[in-house]
Amino acid sequence: MTDPIAPELGEVQMHVVKPKAPVIGRVVSSASCMSGRSASFVRHVSIDVSGTPLAGSFRSGQAFGVIAPGENERGKPHAVRLYSLACPTQGEDGDGNVVSTTVKRVVDEYTPQKDGDDQGAHHLFLGVCSNYLCDLKVGDEVLVSGPAGKRFLLPERPADHDYVFIATGTGIAPFYGMVRELLQSPAGPSPSRIHLVMGTPYTTDLLYDEFFRELADTYDQFQYHPVISRSDIRREYVDRYIDRCMDETFRSMFADPRTLMYMCGLEGMESGMYRMLARHGLADGFVEVKEPLTLEGYADWDPKLMKRHVKAGPRSLVEVY
Ligand code: FAD
Ligand code: A2P
Repeated sequence: MTDPIAPELGEVQMHVVKPKAPVIGRVVSSASCMSGRSASFVRHVSIDVSGTPLAGSFRSGQAFGVIAPGENERGKPHAVRLYSLACPTQGEDGDGNVVSTTVKRVVDEYTPQKDGDDQGAHHLFLGVCSNYLCDLKVGDEVLVSGPAGKRFLLPERPADHDYVFIATGTGIAPFYGMVRELLQSPAGPSPSRIHLVMGTPYTTDLLYDEFFRELADTYDQFQYHPVISRSDIRREYVDRYIDRCMDETFRSMFADPRTLMYMCGLEGMESGMYRMLARHGLADGFVEVKEPLTLEGYADWDPKLMKRHVKAGPRSLVEVY
């Protein structure tokens, strides 16, 4: 290993297909990624991009763009929405021709957003692109762009590192790709230790749950940790779970210079993890603190100041939205 701290991420292509000139992909599969009944709807959607510049140009961890047809309320074409790739770098087909993602239907109650909106309205609000993507059937065409993102990637020499992957909700998408890339590549499973921590409101919201459980049964180096925030038994967020299991499970990982931490999902998870690592004296390489804040002063970190002054260190790779 040449550098035990910062991962070498290697070359990555960006925006080979721009959102202004998207290419046509074709949906090749669409299936629910949940096993039980849940109040939310999340689908694994795979799109064939063969014959377009997108084919073979992406790496797991990047995102691609989807452009929904139609116009917004201002009469402009809908803006591109980004979706994390949920496939390995080799795509779902092994040849880089089929991309996939994990898309959650945005379902909300309408709230007035600006002056002039009907202040009394509160009808059902359906997110434009997530519902379009979830509604698509096998064989349907879809406008896509990308890839996007240049840092949320597996390192060039994956076996030089161990991994703590932390997800909330659809933040599991890139890890579904990366874990498969690490453990199920044709070259054989990586010996790296991998911990996947997945936070959802209820057990029925866990995504690809059966797949990850089976993988944990198969590979000793892979451990799967579902964390449930609204359970009757124990209500926990991912950072609180890691905190509780620190000595028995995670300290040796975070203390090891091989380890990389990846976080994907809700923005709020990031600050919780940084504060917790600082409290355990494990921030080295994972957290960077700028003045006027100090690492030692973690207990007094003001949430507003944290945004600007507490950042991902070289061993933290972060994709939050
Ligand atoms: P929109 O129509 O754009 O609505 C967006 C939000 O605004 C909703 O939360 C909605 O509740 C709210 N809203 C807007 N107007 C109103 C109103 N009048 N009343 C009430 N609420 C309103 N998403 C995934 O599902 N899977 C992924 O893997 C994924 N990866 C991403 C990766 C990146 C790098 C980024 C930046 C985002 C990612 N997203 C992902 C989010 C995705 O890009 C979209 O933002 C998401 O699907 C919602 O888009 P939409 O068009 O359905 O919703
Ligand atoms: P909760 O919603 O109970 O507060 P989903 O995207 O499927 O809703 O899942 C997101 C998960 O992340 C939920 O369990 C949510 O809990 C949890 N969550 C919300 N805020 C944070 C945070 N700041 N840190 C970690 N997890 C969070």
